[in-house]
Amino acid sequence: MGKPVLKREPQQVSDKETEALLDLLEKTLALEGDIVEFGCYRGDTSVIFERRLEKYRRENPEKPLKFLWIYDSFEGLPEKTAEDSSAAGDQFKAGELLVTKREVVEKFKKAGLKVPRIRKGFFENLEENDVPEKISFAFLDGDLYQSIKTSLKLVENCMTKDGIIVVHDYNNPELPGSSRAVDEWLKVHPEKSLEIKETLAIIR
Ligand SMILES: C[S@@+](CC[C@H](N)C(=O)[O-])C[C@H]1O[C@@H](n2cnc3c(N)ncnc32)[C@H](O)[C@@H]1O
Repeated sequence: MGKPVLKREPQQVSDKETEALLDLLEKTLALEGDIVEFGCYRGDTSVIFERRLEKYRRENPEKPLKFLWIYDSFEGLPEKTAEDSSAAGDQFKAGELLVTKREVVEKFKKAGLKVPRIRKGFFENLEENDVPEKISFAFLDGDLYQSIKTSLKLVENCMTKDGIIVVHDYNNPELPGSSRAVDEWLKVHPEKSLEIKETLAIIR
């Protein structure tokens, strides 16, 4: 018998995108404010953010503490709206991408990292104090139009000067709602600039 084949879950964020995210996170570490990830799923990217954050804390003990806040329904995706309609993205159904909060907590513990501030619930039901007062870096990865729109709304007034918002799945034909939500938001925030790397919409 040959070696057992280890099945690996498909990555949600590509290696190139992870590299770009880390690069952008790095640029904001010295700014005041916390880091948020809306749509953490299994916590793969969250663990990478927390690892970098803990290194920053060790190297800069005199600086104010920065925290990671992560958000998910832990019930999978909500229903799509008309803006998400795409034959290419048929696999993204309500309830897909379901993990438990416990699995994510375990992932952090296994990695020897602090468990971040985890908020369970649909973004639409979050309350004001579920979001940090000041945010230096926001990664929005809720896949769908309404989820991206809501998370942009939740972070827009909390971003510190020079803070960066990154939205995943921009120009991803499987998830057209993400670009729609970003484009609409940019129309009412003409002072903001957009840069695109892979499927990351980088908003400054
Ligand atoms: C693509 S996954 C996130 C992947 C993760 N950011 C990563 O880097 O591995 C999208 C996640 O967003 C969550 N999500 C989408 N819309 C949401 C909403 N409106 N409220 C709460 N969670 C939502 C889903 O449950 C799912 O876990």
